[in-house]
Amino acid sequence: MLIKTPRSWELKESDVTDEQAFRQRRRLLQAAAALGLGAALPAHALVGPQGGGRPLPGLRDTAYGKDLKPTDYEDITSYNNFYEFGTGKGAPARNAKDFQTRPWTVRVDGECDAPGEIGIEDILTGFPQEERIYRFRCVEAWGMIVPWDGFPLSRLLARFKPNSRARFVAFETLYDPERMPGQTRRVLDWPYREGLRMDEAMHPLTLMVTGVYGKELPGQNGAPLRLIVPWKYGFKSIKSIVRIRFTEKMPRTTWSDMQPSEYGFYANVNPKVDHPRWSQARERRIGEGLFSGKHPTLMFNGYEDEVASLYKGMDLRRFF
Ligand code: MTE
Repeated sequence: MLIKTPRSWELKESDVTDEQAFRQRRRLLQAAAALGLGAALPAHALVGPQGGGRPLPGLRDTAYGKDLKPTDYEDITSYNNFYEFGTGKGAPARNAKDFQTRPWTVRVDGECDAPGEIGIEDILTGFPQEERIYRFRCVEAWGMIVPWDGFPLSRLLARFKPNSRARFVAFETLYDPERMPGQTRRVLDWPYREGLRMDEAMHPLTLMVTGVYGKELPGQNGAPLRLIVPWKYGFKSIKSIVRIRFTEKMPRTTWSDMQPSEYGFYANVNPKVDHPRWSQARERRIGEGLFSGKHPTLMFNGYEDEVASLYKGMDLRRFF
């Protein structure tokens, strides 16, 4: 008999939570906390949606990270990297406030049998936002525990029928200097570009993210849709995507073009491989305060069991 052991990202139907149930549970938890019962409850359960866009439909939590205390919504949405809206960490929140994300279409082409376009409304309604992934780590040795909401990228890609020559997937952000004022400065070679190997792109933990804390993504976090590859450094998680292309050759990517000695194509979180200018062995958590101490960085950001097999036999110092 085959006994199926659930992987950390797989959960039972009963784990699905809709907005109403989420709010109700939150009220109960708040009442419990007021009675001093909070310590018995998972820390993340006490934090709920704190703003943002429209609520997203049914979501389920991935098991991994549920015991970690999520970073506050306020910190997730005010300390950002999004050079299209300025290079300071506070600039995206100020400059992307009114970013218009409708209408929005994503073109998918290259090595596939069914190239085409898909609109954001079809993405939101055609691919239920049913996964929730915790954890995010930037290359600059800081981390957050973010309840990202989305669905596996593989589902979207399958619709366009990649062919046997498709070995990589390339992504591009919108290029529109009127809507993205940071693009009037040549701080990067616009548009922002990223890429994954096909097996990485098809991995169930690689998410197309449309929300955070159960609400649509705010502009500064990459509205209306971004990538999250939870075992990689944050720069792989390209925001505000308009183009996806299947390629035979490894695609060019923004940061590995800019600084090839510092940023590699793979960018897997790895405490043993330092960035040339700083250690990657420990991480500071945003929102915990300067004196709270650092946390040890986990191999593949804590997803080692799930993803290490993708890199079997590869020298991760060379392919960083
Ligand atoms: N995507 C685009 N288009 N432009 C960017 O400047 N910055 C990257 C990544 N995606 C970036 C981007 C970097 S360096 C990081 S660390 C994360 O987005 C930050 O995501 P967050 O602001 O939601 O934390």
